[in-house]
Amino acid sequence: MPQNKIYIFDTTLRDGEQVPGCKLNTDEKIEIALQLEELGVDIIEAGFPISSPGDFASVEAISKVIKNATVCGLTRSVQKDIEVAAAALKHAVKPRIHTGIGASDIHIKYKFNTTREAILERAAAATKIARNLVPDVEFFCEDAGRADNAFLAKLVETVIAAGATVVNIPDTTGYCLPHQYGEKIAYLVNNVSNIDKAIISCHCHNDLGLATANSISGIINGARQIECTINGIGERAGNTSLEEVVMIIKQHEALGFYTNINAKKLNPISHLVSDTMRMPVQPNKAIVGANAFAHSSGIHQDGFLKEAITYEIINPEDVGADLSKIVLTARSGRSALAYRFQKLGYEFNRNDIDALYEVFLHVADTKKEVEDADLEVLAKNHIAVTA
Ligand code: KIV
Ligand code: ZN
Repeated sequence: MPQNKIYIFDTTLRDGEQVPGCKLNTDEKIEIALQLEELGVDIIEAGFPISSPGDFASVEAISKVIKNATVCGLTRSVQKDIEVAAAALKHAVKPRIHTGIGASDIHIKYKFNTTREAILERAAAATKIARNLVPDVEFFCEDAGRADNAFLAKLVETVIAAGATVVNIPDTTGYCLPHQYGEKIAYLVNNVSNIDKAIISCHCHNDLGLATANSISGIINGARQIECTINGIGERAGNTSLEEVVMIIKQHEALGFYTNINAKKLNPISHLVSDTMRMPVQPNKAIVGANAFAHSSGIHQDGFLKEAITYEIINPEDVGADLSKIVLTARSGRSALAYRFQKLGYEFNRNDIDALYEVFLHVADTKKEVEDADLEVLAKNHIAVTA
């Protein structure tokens, strides 16, 4: 089956940085941008240049150091925004302006107090202004997730005719179910006459925990770009998590997609973003959480120690994570206990382990996790009474 490339558009430095308390300075943004380029992302959304002098400076500085990836700046459908973004991107090898406007009736009425017709006019005008300044223009149809599909198709057709190279279909409020988001993308593929002239992009928020599922549904139905962030950070409940979509595409080869991402760099960059933004990663987070490769129940540990594939679908080394962990708790079994003793250099026989296991369970009931230091005490006491 031919493999389709999925472009990875990273917005950690723009949508991700909108998280309260996660503001970064220019040097921190440059460091993350360079690591994103090493990771293999295709597009780095570096900021929203008109929003502040600091953001302008960051987009400009990132444009100067990034050599392979496209560098993108966000704008509203406002001439001044677009001109300022173009100025910030002046040094980029591959600049992209990301402009757009509300597409749902909710946004058209409450945010813009205008009509669908006026939105079409503003969208076309903004796209043309941007295309006169850079060759690569992405148009976002904000709140596309709740927009009427027929109007959305008209908007997409209009901006492609005006020169958009990428059309972004954001589920801004994270409202869609995966089949609904997929149907929306399929509707555009089937009802926009010039859709072959642009790439469709998914930009899904995680308000209902569906951002990753919706993005995958989007590419299955014809989108070829996913907008995402490291660790899934972003407004409110966050954006689609880069590491999740990349590993879904990698693990499910039968989907027929690939990305340029070097998966071994996923955990290192997750740590970098988490440390720099002082934003901890939840321990059970897929791919990059501290427990993503930890086994603690006896049944799982026994299977894992016999053959890792029983309970792991990803080798932690393939995503740059520490080796799998066998955590000892009151739910652990004898094989896990024997394994951990072995790691400390103790070779106990079956009878020893049976005896040690009884004592271990008493200790485990008093603690969240039994550590190496506890095991050393257990081992030394056992050797003393059995010697
Ligand atoms: O969520 C959204 O709609 C956005 C746009 C600005 C692309 O972040
Ligand atoms: Zn967003």
